[in-house]
Amino acid sequence: MQLKYKSYWRKSGLKGKWGNIFLERLSNYNPKNVLEIGVFCGVTARNTCDLLSKTNEKNFSYIGIDLFGSDQNEYKDEIKPKFLKDQKFSNPLKNIYYNYILRENLNSVQSVSKLLKEYKDNIRLISGDTNKVLKEIDLQNIDFTFLDGGHSYQTVINDLTILYGSMKDKKKVILCDDYGKESYIPEVEKAINDFAKQNNLKLNIIENRFAEIIT
Ligand SMILES: C[S@@+](CC[C@H](N)C(=O)[O-])C[C@H]1O[C@@H](n2cnc3c(N)ncnc32)[C@H](O)[C@@H]1O
Repeated sequence: MQLKYKSYWRKSGLKGKWGNIFLERLSNYNPKNVLEIGVFCGVTARNTCDLLSKTNEKNFSYIGIDLFGSDQNEYKDEIKPKFLKDQKFSNPLKNIYYNYILRENLNSVQSVSKLLKEYKDNIRLISGDTNKVLKEIDLQNIDFTFLDGGHSYQTVINDLTILYGSMKDKKKVILCDDYGKESYIPEVEKAINDFAKQNNLKLNIIENRFAEIIT
């Protein structure tokens, strides 16, 4: 299924060609149940739902977890992309539209729910720190996870440990962002390497950015 990644006039972690590369990975595996850790403004969530609803005739689920402004437990995390602090845009029209007309915080459950409203029966948005909430979620049916939340060593290890515990030996996919030099975060790379080594997992490196684990 060829679908172009749309920005929905919001900020996304997957700018330019990266959104389409992500969608290609997603459609490659044709998953039904997808988890995204780190939802930000919901653009990847929306594109994921657009794709899943087409490929699965609306029979799909999307779970998104983000701090959404709640407290984080792991203080070392690179938590707030600068944008989140004052919701600054380089485009002045967007600034007026979101900050003065709508007065909408784009990284909030309310705002992301609005963006995903046509999929309201298929989605679940969870507010919290994955160091605390991930272990409380039933992940047994997840086919594909996009891991793009907290970027500290401890959080990445925590998230991979819990995800792998539920997905192990099921030939499911964990796609991790910020591994390769195109979007390099040293702590993320180290955590993924250490985890893969400890569990004897092979990493597929996608376009010098994503590290993909097949469980
Ligand atoms: C890089 S952004 C995600 C981008 C998004 N995946 C996209 O494609 O647009 C990282 C997000 O992770 C969230 N985050 C950071 N630490 C977290 C944690 N420990 N638990 C849950 N979410 C976290 C932040 O609030 C932020 O919205």
